[in-house]
Amino acid sequence: MIAARLIASMTLLLAAAAPVSAQAPDGKMLFAKNCAACHLANGRGIAGAFPALAANDFVKGSAVDVATVLLKGRGGMPDFSGSLGDGDIALVLSYVRSSWGNQAAPLQEDEVAAVRAALQLPKASGGVRGNKH
Ligand code: HEC
Repeated sequence: MIAARLIASMTLLLAAAAPVSAQAPDGKMLFAKNCAACHLANGRGIAGAFPALAANDFVKGSAVDVATVLLKGRGGMPDFSGSLGDGDIALVLSYVRSSWGNQAAPLQEDEVAAVRAALQLPKASGGVRGNKH
């Protein structure tokens, strides 16, 4: 009986703690699903084909420029404007900008939305966290 109560209260505690820790793994999960195929899970890319995002000055630089690459695509990189919403783009870029030696400010959803609007791109049509690749 006591054990059952203990388990019940532990479950409650875990449930209460979950939303706090849900934020960080999200960017990582989005990266694994949408980006790691080319840039690799360790962000080092493949020389001559996919640029390293680890310790990358462009990645650490202007948030607007980085969001633009994702929204418009560039060279051999597909655009994610249709498959990822502004919140997901903010999450994945915040993860990239704070991983593998990068230390740059996170992006907020409304910053990405502003870049999307400036580029006159429609809102993402895919489901949340979609991966079209
Ligand atoms: C199909 C392969 C592919 C996928 C998937 C992909 N990228 Fe890329 N990415 C590239 C290529 C190729 C380039 C270089 C584009 C160029 O030459 O202009 C690039 C460039 C970039 C750059 C600019 C780097 C620089 O130094 O200028 C960023 C930032 C970036 N990718 C982030 C991401 C993120 C975040 C995702 C996932 C949401 C992603 N990429 C998914 C292939 C990919």
